[in-house]
Amino acid sequence: MSVRVVIGAQWGDEGKGKVVDMFAEEADVVARYQGGANAGHTIVVGDRKYVLHLIPSGILHDNTVCVIGNGVVIDPAALMEEIELLKSFGVSIEGRLKISHKAHLIMPYHKLLDQLTEREQKIGTTGRGIGPSYIDKYNRSGIRIVDLLDRVRLEEQLREGIRQKNDWFRKVYDAPELDVEKIVAEYLDFDQQMDDYITDTTSFINEAWRSGKTILAEGAQGALLDIDHGTYPFVTSSSPTSGGACTGLGLPPTAITKVTGIVKAYCTRVGAGPFPTELEDETGEKLRALGAEFGATTGRPRRCGWLDLFALRYSAMINGIDEIVLTKLDVLNDFEEIKVCTGYNVNGEPVKYFPSDCGTLEKVEPIYETLPGWNYELRSGESFDDLPSETRNYIRKIEEEVGAPVRYLGIGPGRDEIIVGDLEKVG
Ligand code: IMP
Repeated sequence: MSVRVVIGAQWGDEGKGKVVDMFAEEADVVARYQGGANAGHTIVVGDRKYVLHLIPSGILHDNTVCVIGNGVVIDPAALMEEIELLKSFGVSIEGRLKISHKAHLIMPYHKLLDQLTEREQKIGTTGRGIGPSYIDKYNRSGIRIVDLLDRVRLEEQLREGIRQKNDWFRKVYDAPELDVEKIVAEYLDFDQQMDDYITDTTSFINEAWRSGKTILAEGAQGALLDIDHGTYPFVTSSSPTSGGACTGLGLPPTAITKVTGIVKAYCTRVGAGPFPTELEDETGEKLRALGAEFGATTGRPRRCGWLDLFALRYSAMINGIDEIVLTKLDVLNDFEEIKVCTGYNVNGEPVKYFPSDCGTLEKVEPIYETLPGWNYELRSGESFDDLPSETRNYIRKIEEEVGAPVRYLGIGPGRDEIIVGDLEKVG
């Protein structure tokens, strides 16, 4: 009986897909609890690469049941496309995918609105309609998965929703209206396509937990993109932090037994917003090239920089990180020196806490420590004992600053390219 929550500890793209796939081997249930098709979780199995946007990364293991929880916002077209793609790869979905009654839908007008507001706001969103769908949810005017099951009411809701948004598009943005009939026909069809999967996932997951099943809650994006605790307003519109797993699945906080923080060995960010350790130079370009840092959902180049341990300490505090999976460590194989940020100065004075306002975050000066690189090719099959002392130093520094042990090292994109161990025991 355990519930492990896997969260991205930075700005997303830490490599959660591969890690969830690894833990899923032992899990009975794998559940997504927030976000939507803005996520892009990549798993490489042999010479095949899977990029999942909505379906939990546990789907590639036959033994797991996958849940899309109430906290997720679902674009039905994107979901059906993903289901078809998985089926075409021979992945069996039947009986293994459960979608919450209570999850909200993403409508075509949400995507359009996302793109229109982006012109002024310039958050650098993925354009998948995430923010506008959550706006309707919190405005209590959203359309939920359960509404798909009542065609008469759904049609009324759709017509009213599209009418209101069309009005807005015309008056505020001078944009062309959406085709009401086309959208109504498309959405009325989704009930049949999704019928097999729609269920009360809150009861399902609670019964699974109480009957001793192993549950894995899969966070999307990262803690520093959290709507409450992230670098607001340059955040996503949901709660990728560990607490989001409770509200996003309907599991009580007392159910959570472990929080696993996924930490990339350096930092990246897509979209706009403060990024104190960003490297806009050759080193940043080297990280981008070696780490293939291009968005899995949008293909955008990711901004790259040194590991920010000060931000990570904050992330560990709000998530309660019990253990770390350090990913993409191999990207640092070929650096003479590696810097880590251990604090920020503002006007020459160190700040005590991670700043809450972007104005301050934009002007902090990172305090760096320089560590020697290892110039060594980390290989799967090695143990923590085999690691060069410089690599162990780097890991130890992270453990010290974050206050949690590093238990797994990602050293390549493949399923097996992971080193499992415990540095505490190695010494
Ligand atoms: P939205 O989630 O599409 O509204 O985008 C809001 C911010 O979150 C933007 O800066 C995006 O680039 C970022 N974001 C959203 N999803 C991801 C992700 O899966 N990985 C990294 N950044 C993301």
